[in-house]
Amino acid sequence: MNSDIDKILFNKEEISKKTQKLANQIDCDYGDEEIVTVGILRGALFFMADLLRILNVKLLTDVMVVSSYDESDIVSSGKVIIQKDVSIDIRNRDVLIVEDIVDTGLTLYHVKQHLLDNGAKSVKICTLLDKPTNRKVEITSDYNGFIIPNNFVVGYGLGYANRYRNLDYIGILKPEVYQSKENES
Ligand code: XMP
Ligand code: MG
Repeated sequence: MNSDIDKILFNKEEISKKTQKLANQIDCDYGDEEIVTVGILRGALFFMADLLRILNVKLLTDVMVVSSYDESDIVSSGKVIIQKDVSIDIRNRDVLIVEDIVDTGLTLYHVKQHLLDNGAKSVKICTLLDKPTNRKVEITSDYNGFIIPNNFVVGYGLGYANRYRNLDYIGILKPEVYQSKENES
């Protein structure tokens, strides 16, 4: 285990089992419809890759790059910036957002509204993790993997200052890792 990690919350087998369960639900709900999946980078990188490869539903794949954090923060700035929008024409299409985690809810709230404003017929949300404690706006995932406590977690795509994204498990980051950064600035 990486020495900056306090505790592993979900190992790769648990993540894979949960991803399969979510894929089954999505396949079941959409049936023969063709959908557009929109992965939110960078956090959803690995979750999106694993989920999409086991989905049977017909799909077009796109990504958005969205940020609400400064590089070395663990608290959302509250300002959601779309750094890269979808490239596919989503008008009259069923869209499924694939996201790593819903925390304050601000990112998904803005992204969902943005996609609806751009003419999507429907927008559903699939998140691997849900941290309900900090919610600032009302938003619910249609497909949610794990509910987690209010700790800063990393791994499996989630990162702190872009580190730890490559870990194949999801774990709680030791507070001293970001506290020492706070003291530096
Ligand atoms: P909001 O607050 O907009 O947050 O719902 C969504 C985005 O914030 C990031 N986030 C985290 N990233 N560990 C991370 O590595 C966490 O515990 C965490 N909580 C929120 C994430 O990018 C998510 O898309
Ligand atoms: Mg994210």
